[in-house]
Amino acid sequence: MADDQPPPASSPTPGLDRVARALSGARHVCVLTGAGISAESGIPTFRDALTGLWENFRPEELASPEAFEQDPAFVWKWYEWRRELVRRAEPNPGHHALAELARRVPRLTLVTQNVDGLHQRAGSTGVIEYHGNILRDRCVVEQVVADRSRDVGGELPRCASCGGLLRPDVVWFGEAIPRDALLRADAGAADCDVFLSIGTSSLVYPAAGLADEARRRGAFVAEINKDATDLSSRVHAVVRGPSGELLPELLRRLGP
Ligand code: OAD
Repeated sequence: MADDQPPPASSPTPGLDRVARALSGARHVCVLTGAGISAESGIPTFRDALTGLWENFRPEELASPEAFEQDPAFVWKWYEWRRELVRRAEPNPGHHALAELARRVPRLTLVTQNVDGLHQRAGSTGVIEYHGNILRDRCVVEQVVADRSRDVGGELPRCASCGGLLRPDVVWFGEAIPRDALLRADAGAADCDVFLSIGTSSLVYPAAGLADEARRRGAFVAEINKDATDLSSRVHAVVRGPSGELLPELLRRLGP
């Protein structure tokens, strides 16, 4: 189904024109982003062989409730390192282009698997954080977003209201997607007429199933990614390359 052939020299990105045409007639656009869109902001993706975030560990050793129960200090150390990366990062032209796209189409639902908050910092509103946000803390006792206690010493952060252990407010392996995010993303995928899958390996469900649901409901589905993915053969258009370059180019082709 995908037009994943090497493009002719005269037209470097034919898929991009198809996507621009689809967007120009769209009523509701649903976008799913993954770690690839933040790669050009200097945040490593999860599965990159050389710089990937899981490089020296199995994900379950760092991002699971079991790992946290066994060794919270070890898990926190990894998250503090990632938080620092996120705090230092700036949104890139790909994030900015999506914020601008939302102003140019009648309706846009933006679902992100990223926990870095860079879409919001680029000006996107109503972002659906499917996997949470790494900069927030959650109390493991009260199960709510919480402030850190200033009184309690020790190496682990504690909840200001109940003194319980804090954890990052992200979704770990084996955990459910926050209900509100799940419902809003499902509704976006089911209702949209154009679905864009950007910078995600499409390996982690249920996020990876949103594109299929959109296609099943009749939407035009396109993938924008540096590399081929599991999804590539099931979409109407594939555009290969870095999203930080392709998304601004897509806006240029879309016109005002
Ligand atoms: P991955 O690391 O699995 O995939 C990143 C994708 O982005 C790959 O397909 C890359 O080829 C592509 N990519 C890299 N740089 C790019 C660029 N500049 N422009 C466009 N594409 C680029 O990340 P995700 O698909 O986001 O979940 O991973 C999904 C989930 O797996 C994450 O949210 C995380 C992880 O387990 C949780 O933590 C719950």
